[in-house]
Amino acid sequence: FGQRIVVLDSTVSTQQDAMRLAEEGAQQGTVVLAEEQTAGRGRLGRKWFSPRGKGIWMSIVLRPSQPLAFTPQLTLLTGVAVCRAIRRLTGVEAGIKWPNDLLVHGRKVCGILLESATEDQRVRYCIAGIGIDVNLNTEDYPEELSRLGTSLKIEAGREIDRTALIAAVLEEMEQVCALYADQGFKPVAMLWEALSVTMNRFVRAHTGQGSVVEGTAVGLDPSGALVVETKQGERIQVVSGDIQLQV
Ligand code: BTN
Repeated sequence: FGQRIVVLDSTVSTQQDAMRLAEEGAQQGTVVLAEEQTAGRGRLGRKWFSPRGKGIWMSIVLRPSQPLAFTPQLTLLTGVAVCRAIRRLTGVEAGIKWPNDLLVHGRKVCGILLESATEDQRVRYCIAGIGIDVNLNTEDYPEELSRLGTSLKIEAGREIDRTALIAAVLEEMEQVCALYADQGFKPVAMLWEALSVTMNRFVRAHTGQGSVVEGTAVGLDPSGALVVETKQGERIQVVSGDIQLQV
């Protein structure tokens, strides 16, 4: 990872740039970084606030060999890698909210967006988009994000070296991908569960198909879906969408 790193000053979205490179044949581990994005993309069609010089806005080309059904595992794998890098480099105890938001004290410090290009059921490539709020100050957040977001600088009480954090993320991606290639999803799922703030919590899940499930998050199934156990003891797999942690 990171043998080829394209660094841009300003771009619309590093996801688009990485996709273009992947279409041109870029290898797994190719990285696009930007100082600022003018239309950063979030999950579920949301916008991603990407102010100049304050964060890590990056996209990584992945070339998985498995079919499309396995891509949720890559989402979780990326969350594990970034969470480990943040903890190791900054000491900030970020936790993973399913599927892959990284939270500190209930506020989001990093978001991950995994997009796949497919042909029939075959995955041509995936782009793992990682947005980390690194050196934003409280006053940098627009009104609507001020209670939802936080930065590593705010949490650590000091400026964080972005270059060192990028290197740590790429190292962890390399290691967790190697573990996944050698031993499959199981050990990655165990790392995820240990870093997760979702496990054993009462959650309300919006499954994306318009239905709502309530229950206790009891773990991941082999495909990477979140397993929620309802009060009636029924186990339901939540494959996509968003969850709320209940107090
Ligand atoms: C989310 O939590 O909704 C996912 C946010 C992903 C943001 C990153 S920043 C780099 C890459 N480029 C984008 O346009 N989005 C991702």
